[in-house]
Amino acid sequence: MNDKLAGFYELYSRRRSIREFSGRHVEEEVLARLLEVLRMAQSAANRQPWHFIVVRDEDREAFNDVFTKDGFKAAPLLIVACAEPEAAWQRKPDGQNYAWVDVTIAITEMIGAATAEGLGSCWVAAIEPVKVKKLLEIPDKVDVVGVIALGYPNEELRPIEKDRWPLKKIIHYGKW
Ligand SMILES: Cc1cc2nc3c(=O)[nH]c(=O)nc-3n(C[C@H](O)[C@H](O)[C@H](O)COP(=O)(O)O)c2cc1C
Repeated sequence: MNDKLAGFYELYSRRRSIREFSGRHVEEEVLARLLEVLRMAQSAANRQPWHFIVVRDEDREAFNDVFTKDGFKAAPLLIVACAEPEAAWQRKPDGQNYAWVDVTIAITEMIGAATAEGLGSCWVAAIEPVKVKKLLEIPDKVDVVGVIALGYPNEELRPIEKDRWPLKKIIHYGKW
């Protein structure tokens, strides 16, 4: 494996959920690159059924009672990931709506980029969506998929062992 390829795979071993953040500000140009990754993400039939609300600086304070974990309150940057099911592709045979899948893909790609930028991140799904929608004036037809807390971690991200199922439990060859 060449160095470039090794670096790519190493990125995934560095990513882990970060729930404590240093006070360091996330630079404008870094944020701009992350937002561009969101914009360029793939989505079913290219419907892009998403909206992302950037919350930071003075707006961040209002968000504090949305979080149950104190560490998230120190995240300098939040991205609220929203899905608009009416705008999404639907699978005909079973009516499955792909809005949440599309939003999740975009966020996952953005988290990869954030990791490469040296940022720590954590998906926060355990929020009260009604409270968040009211606070951010999100229309009724739009779902809050999650809040992504972002910021520089206290310690640089390094490759770590992760607590995961072994391949043989989750990968099936040919059939279940
Ligand atoms: C969709 C989703 C929702 C999550 N929601 C929360 C959450 O509400 N609070 C939290 O502390 N971590 C949350 N996490 C982080 C997971 O707990 C974490 O990804 C998992 O334990 C694996 O650890 P790792 O991210 O460090 O590899 C969430 C992760 C995902 C993917």
